[in-house]
Amino acid sequence: MTEIHKTKELPKITTHVLQEMKLRGEKIAMLTGYDYSMAKLLDEAGIDVILVGDSASNVMAGHATTLPITLDQMIYHASSVMRGVKRALVVVDLPFGSYQGNSKEALNSAVRIMKESGANAVKMEGGKEISESIDRILSAGIPVLGHLGLTPQSINKFGTYVVRARETKEAEKLKEDALFLERAGCFGVVLEKIPAKLAAEVTESIKIPTIGIGAGPHVDGQVLVLHDMLGINQEFSPRFLRRYHNLHDEIIGSFLSYIHDVKSADFPNSKEQY
Ligand code: KIV
Repeated sequence: MTEIHKTKELPKITTHVLQEMKLRGEKIAMLTGYDYSMAKLLDEAGIDVILVGDSASNVMAGHATTLPITLDQMIYHASSVMRGVKRALVVVDLPFGSYQGNSKEALNSAVRIMKESGANAVKMEGGKEISESIDRILSAGIPVLGHLGLTPQSINKFGTYVVRARETKEAEKLKEDALFLERAGCFGVVLEKIPAKLAAEVTESIKIPTIGIGAGPHVDGQVLVLHDMLGINQEFSPRFLRRYHNLHDEIIGSFLSYIHDVKSADFPNSKEQY
């Protein structure tokens, strides 16, 4: 609890603060969040960045991929998160199909997210191939977080969720894309499921912060999907995932107790009624 009270005095996180953290060598802690109650807890604990990830498509809606989630649904999740946050920087994924087509559509999507949710920045998957969209969004004053390596919106192109950029050609392209994102003006880049050595090289080569997920320790920050790190989702257990809790068993245990108490007429008791 003492720790929590201290975090209340911490300054509001901006993209500028993240840049300073990289310069100071202070690691950036980022987790995904999709709703008001969890966002409030994350913020209270002092998380630096909340990513309203399109992984909501998997963990909140039960889809097999991130592809089906819509812009309206992302805005719903983002505005719920914003109502719970005082300090953290909130970044929202532009969902599949809302920015790849043309840069005007990309700008409209990003503007809708910023206006309708009040979030602080957007995240986009890809490098040079989406340069026009990135430029246009940045020109409108909207901060952009890049995302390279395993980019789940391209799962149909990759065909699998295995580690990316093990081969020299793909690794070289990733390095070029990271430099491109820095020059374009992105405030950071997520590196997903790539060899730790490559992530370290990229982190050394650019001035903007790198946030890793399955990218080893030599990055400027880490991100995990909330449901995975809390152990709600038991089916997903890649090597990079550290589980901080076994909420699956805890929650099931609570449900079992409740069902038992209702069925045995133990709940409500004399003190739990008017
Ligand atoms: O959608 C998401 O949760 C993400 C993280 C895995 C980086 O993009």
